[in-house]
Amino acid sequence: MLIDKFGREINYLRLAITDRCNLRCSYCMPEHQHFLNREELLSFEEILFLTDSLSKAGINKVRITGGEPFVRKDTAYLIREISKIERINQLSITTNGVLTNQYLNELQDANVSGVNLSLDTLNPKKFFALTKRDEFDSVQRSFHSLINHGFNLKLNVVVMNHFNTDEIYDFIELSRNHPISIRFIEEMPFNGQGNDYSGITWNYTTILNHIEQHYKLVKLPEQANAISFSYRVEGFAGTIGIIPAYSRSLCGSCNRLRVTPTGGLKLCLYGKDVLNVRDLIRSGISEQNLISTIQNVVLNKPINGFEAEKQNDLPIHESMSMIGG
Ligand code: GTP
Ligand code: 5AD
Ligand code: SF4
Repeated sequence: MLIDKFGREINYLRLAITDRCNLRCSYCMPEHQHFLNREELLSFEEILFLTDSLSKAGINKVRITGGEPFVRKDTAYLIREISKIERINQLSITTNGVLTNQYLNELQDANVSGVNLSLDTLNPKKFFALTKRDEFDSVQRSFHSLINHGFNLKLNVVVMNHFNTDEIYDFIELSRNHPISIRFIEEMPFNGQGNDYSGITWNYTTILNHIEQHYKLVKLPEQANAISFSYRVEGFAGTIGIIPAYSRSLCGSCNRLRVTPTGGLKLCLYGKDVLNVRDLIRSGISEQNLISTIQNVVLNKPINGFEAEKQNDLPIHESMSMIGG
């Protein structure tokens, strides 16, 4: 079992499989990002060895993240192979949706249970201004096909002052007839560009108050390990989530372990890598030793993101594309 010193059981593995992205969202990465060489990335064989090993230590939920995970060649193969690991009973992806539409059959065949799609604006011009790429239509296509194929769909909307706060109600309207979850995320300081992050104006209470000015919300019961506060507009088919990613108010029940594209193991989104599993695997470590090494470091999972940040004295200006959200 993977358990930390606060008794939290870690059963959720997030695998960021590529540092590359086909968009350039300003809150995530600069236009000219240095990309890694292939040998620096965990290979698929290494990812499968790691995931299989950790499944024997209690990991039963895996999320593959990008950017767009499908920018990496043969991601569909990786997803299929992970889905065959016996103890993994929940497999999902987080994607920007640019290529996802081309892989819906593969996702269904691998029993991928959930897709979290990033979409911060419903306006094509604003989409281009934010992402610097002309891909609004492909993301829209993915969005609609995911709904039509009945995927459990969550829309991730990073809330940005003066950019998309005027669209919050339009996003909520998408949950009127579609059984999807619209999640508003506080912006975090992971834009890969240094010091130009000046804190958030719209935190989760601001977002909630704004929504409540217009809609009557029903609070939904907190789910175990949830990272969002959840609501439903009375009578709507879908739900609303607010993710206090910057305020970090829901860290106490965190059940996550993250692995970066280069094999860095992170105990917290706000913490630095505590060890490198790629190097351990390349040095020929046995499955049992890999498990016990990870069990040992997991013991020190910080109780929340503030502690992680302090402990590590971390310059939190990494690009989110290296962490995978
Ligand atoms: P579910 O499995 O559906 O709960 O997915 P998820 O919310 O874990 O995954 P997703 O990749 O969609 O993450 C959405 C956002 O949640 C991320 O961009 C972060 O903003 C936030 N988030 C996820 N995990 C953490 C965490 O451990 N700490 C904090 N502060 N925010 C997180
Ligand atoms: N702040 C908040 N969310 C972010 N994401 C990427 N960068 C940031 C940031 N700086 C989100 C993406 C995606 C999720 C995995 O992380 O929108 O939905
Ligand atoms: Fe945008 Fe995500 Fe790509 Fe970053 S990784 S540029 S947030 S789509």
